Amino acid sequence: MSKTNVRHPPHYKENTLLTRREFISSGLQTTGAIAVASAATGILTGCSHQVHAHPTLATASGEITGKASLKAHAAAHELLVGAAVNTRLLRSDANYARILREQYDLVVAENAMKWGPLRPAPDKYFFDEADALVAFAEQNKMKVRGHNLAWHEALPGWFAATVNKENAQRFLTDHIATVAGRYKGKIRSWDVVNEAIQVKDGRPDGLRKSPWLELLGPGYIDIAFRAARQADPGALLTYNDYGVEYDNDEDARKREFILQLLRRMKADNVPLDALGIQSHIRAGSSSSFGKGIQDYIAGTRALGLQVFLTELDVNEDDLPYNDVAQRDHAIAEVYRNYLDTVLPDPAVKSVLTWGVTDRYTWLNGPTQKRKQPNRRQRALPFDDNYQPKEAFFAMRDCFDRRSV
Ligand code: G3I
Repeated sequence: MSKTNVRHPPHYKENTLLTRREFISSGLQTTGAIAVASAATGILTGCSHQVHAHPTLATASGEITGKASLKAHAAAHELLVGAAVNTRLLRSDANYARILREQYDLVVAENAMKWGPLRPAPDKYFFDEADALVAFAEQNKMKVRGHNLAWHEALPGWFAATVNKENAQRFLTDHIATVAGRYKGKIRSWDVVNEAIQVKDGRPDGLRKSPWLELLGPGYIDIAFRAARQADPGALLTYNDYGVEYDNDEDARKREFILQLLRRMKADNVPLDALGIQSHIRAGSSSSFGKGIQDYIAGTRALGLQVFLTELDVNEDDLPYNDVAQRDHAIAEVYRNYLDTVLPDPAVKSVLTWGVTDRYTWLNGPTQKRKQPNRRQRALPFDDNYQPKEAFFAMRDCFDRRSV
């Protein structure tokens, strides 16, 4: 069943009270909604919706740290909540590091643990940035995801001219032994193989015609997972992919190929612990979330695997209007609909957004082909100025609604 889009006014935040600042900035007074001043606390409830004072918010209005943080609400429902991290910003941007400490208990390197950044030369490794992330996590009692050990992108410039069918397995297993071995015991889960399925490549097994497939055949996947288990027996070995979230034919076909892969790996006793669902989703999509992804997660659970939402963000380029409050509301609705669809399944153990603040999202980066080039994407829970947006409160409410 697909999630019915319950429409709420732009200011709507279930179970929360609006502070005076939020009420005024939401433009509520222009929407004719019923505004009831709460004299006792000086807080306005600006909803035309019955609002129940949220216990942790009724006192410290607008509070978002401590018991009101994402990680506190997530932990209360057996979830870890995390974000992808640009390690250079940990040194250069105090607000960035502060929000990570306040809101998340899980981090993943956006780029620092990929082949390209780690491997400046065939016989050289560069671990400074990856080490910095692991150190930051240890200092702040956070868990770490490793991303990733085998992918068709972010390969170093020397790769194509150096790696061949004869030496490819040694390069792959040496890389995994060195990298996963270095962080043994410090990585909660590894994206061992990333994005191996590409339906339009036309193979009967749905596998992407990646350099690894060309060099080693389909067995590269098993080689990578076995090497990872040997290097770090305590890490949860994850297969991670995108394009599976919607109830439409394209995503359904990809889900089926991935489930076939997971079933084959389990049948062949390939070490595998979890499925990563990247969750790069869109506002304004003609598709919805529902039975497709719910059955996908249930099918994964039936294999004894955990499920991680690994790269959640909302691309809003399809929204035709520019009004920020309207866009933020539409984006928050996508967060709500998606998370309310997938979080009820107990196999879902973590939710990571692909970044913390719109200021640094890849969606505003130079590689993006933009439909709305004259505006910045507002894809993440915090805006360019580190202010929580409606998406932040939507995530927190969805965690609270999880019955687990
Ligand atoms: O650091 C270099 C810089 O020194 C150089 O001047 C600059 C220009 O060439 O490039 C910089 O590296 C870029 C890197 O991001 C850091 O900004 C790479 O070119 C660029 O390709 C890389 O893009 C990353 C992309 O993966 C490819 O690795 C994005 O930041 C990152 O958000 C994106 O993340 C992927 C996940 O790993 C897998 N799932 C999809 C997701 C989005 O594409």
